[in-house]
Amino acid sequence: MYDCRLRFGVQQAPALSATACVLKLAADLPADPMKDFREMKQRGEKITALTAYDYPTARLLDESGIDIILVGDSLGMVVLGCRDTTGVTLEEMLHHTRAVARGVKQALLVADLPIHTYDTPKQAVESARKFVDVGAQAVKLEGGVSHVAQIQAITKAGVPFMAHIGMLPQSVREEGGYRIKGRTQSEAEALLADARAVEKAGAFSVVLEIVVADIARQITRAIGIPTIGIGSGKHCDGQILVTHDLIGLFPWFTPKFVSPEARVADEIRRAARAFIEQTRAGG
Ligand code: KIV
Repeated sequence: MYDCRLRFGVQQAPALSATACVLKLAADLPADPMKDFREMKQRGEKITALTAYDYPTARLLDESGIDIILVGDSLGMVVLGCRDTTGVTLEEMLHHTRAVARGVKQALLVADLPIHTYDTPKQAVESARKFVDVGAQAVKLEGGVSHVAQIQAITKAGVPFMAHIGMLPQSVREEGGYRIKGRTQSEAEALLADARAVEKAGAFSVVLEIVVADIARQITRAIGIPTIGIGSGKHCDGQILVTHDLIGLFPWFTPKFVSPEARVADEIRRAARAFIEQTRAGG
């Protein structure tokens, strides 16, 4: 199940025999990060996923037992202060993926291919390999039927692939905003076609972003790979959130579907004010 090329870099893999590879993996890895997510779906075991963009967050999430850590291109908004994800570059994503990889031991590390790094199948494979080289174990890109050629090329190159359909943040400017998907019959049918297409193209799971809950439920029943929902109701096989939303670290905007579990921004402000007061008081 585990592909050596992912851990050691695709170029290095041919140098290792199958036995050497298995032994090295057994020695290096405390847990198998590429769990069989299909089996989890069959067992009804919910899959958990959160984003990370730096070493301490990745390590904390990993130590908490999360199944999947995504270096999302939401990086653009919650870390780099951009309006949306459309300005995120390959170099920025690689830089943050490298840092996250240092903190992940047991979770599956997935990285987002940023916009215009997968315009052709060849470019998609080249980009995916760059992420594998810095420690990602799988990649994700946005699109369904429209990107089957890219997905097939990535999976054929031996890189596990997570799909992303529904609301596609990299298309937010063309779409004119973050709109819920699956409200009309034709949108629901297109989503189902996307989900079937990405499964057939080799994806091991599919993110459903802001999809009408009942349509997300229908998709979840219709395909064999797990659906990982974000703002798509409780019937998906797993859930993913942007960690900053979950822990209240981006207080200027919280999506409607998130109930923060912590108020980290308030804690940072409190600690900073305490430090400022103490320092100004001469203490
Ligand atoms: O970029 C991201 O963080 C994502 C998740 C919201 C699914 O794609």
